[in-house]
Amino acid sequence: MKAISIGLLGLGTVGSGVVKIIEQHQDKLMHQIGCAINIKKILVKDSAKDRQVAIDKSILTSNVDEILEDPEIDVIIEVMGGIDETKDYLLRAIRNKKHIITANKDLMALYGSQLLKEATANECDLFYEASVAGGIPILRGLADGLASDRITKMMGIVNGTTNFILTKMSQDGSAYEEVLKEAQSLGFAEADPTADVSGLDAARKMAILSTLGFSMTIDLEDVTVQGITEISEEDLAYSKKLGYTMKLIGLSSRDGEKVEVSVQPALLPEHHPLASVHNEYNAVYVYGEAVGETMFYGPGAGSLPTATSVVSDLVAVIKNMRLGVNGRSAVAPQYPKTMKEPSE
Ligand code: NAP
Ligand code: HSE
Repeated sequence: MKAISIGLLGLGTVGSGVVKIIEQHQDKLMHQIGCAINIKKILVKDSAKDRQVAIDKSILTSNVDEILEDPEIDVIIEVMGGIDETKDYLLRAIRNKKHIITANKDLMALYGSQLLKEATANECDLFYEASVAGGIPILRGLADGLASDRITKMMGIVNGTTNFILTKMSQDGSAYEEVLKEAQSLGFAEADPTADVSGLDAARKMAILSTLGFSMTIDLEDVTVQGITEISEEDLAYSKKLGYTMKLIGLSSRDGEKVEVSVQPALLPEHHPLASVHNEYNAVYVYGEAVGETMFYGPGAGSLPTATSVVSDLVAVIKNMRLGVNGRSAVAPQYPKTMKEPSE
């Protein structure tokens, strides 16, 4: 099989990790897919900037047309973030018959069903494992591993930045602003961290997880959200004294057709397994009627963990290309919109 050409949109924290994994795991990837991967062009804002990864600067561009209109590019990996402009890019790419991999939960929580519909209509794959819980393969876990079960509840920590902040504030007594800066410098936080600390990022992930887990479209506006901005160092010290640990918890439960989804800070007893999930790590309990309780645990943010999910999606796309079945294995096909009645 000829080399597969990739167009990478973004070369920040995640994009750099994607380049590193494609380079460093070449042999394993070649064994899995039987062909080389060629990163043909990379979209960035500033081509002159120093990069976190050694790269031939001649493949950097700030003209997206060079990627979207290049007939030799088979797959677009979107790790630039953003919503409206990014959605337009991906729709154009799909209409040009390019497969899509994205880590963008902002986009998928709002326009996932439109993009998936367009991808299916154009026989293109659209995979988005990295959009929820970074390096944890939870979307495939739900869509494939637990496909035969009826999921009734999901509960866990799905934002690495806030978990990092709460861990450091409570363990070391660090100040909120200082730890937020550390989370930004480690590449865990969003470009604008407001979405992390307000709970919006976790809400987007819970909407995506709930849509997949419950096989019904759950919109972002259906999620009740409260973040960690009101939590003080004193609150955390006092909770600790009483034997509790504060975590930002996403909870999604289903009772028949009624679904409730929320994100809010919660006090957990210190012996609760989620209380010992520290730093940028995420963990999600998934309850199924038949399987009972399962737990997904691992790094929820960061360059290489997140890029692992992205490149694994790429392996899935290329395997589908070999089989000629692209666009037929969407993770989350079109689900009907069925939603809770407001809780009285
Ligand atoms: P980042 O470090 O800020 O990198 C963004 C990259 O995209 C940069 O290379 C930037 O170019 C480029 N870019 C942004 N807007 C652009 C535009 N309008 N035109 C051209 N290039 C543009 O972001 P990141 O942390 O890698 O996150 C990327 C995506 O992955 C986001 O959707 C995020 O939510 C998601 N994600 C991140 C993580 C994580 O741990 N960081 C985990 C899971 C998912 P310049 O370099 O020239 O500025
Ligand atoms: N900002 C996100 C987080 C990145 O901290 O969880 C991973 O989605």
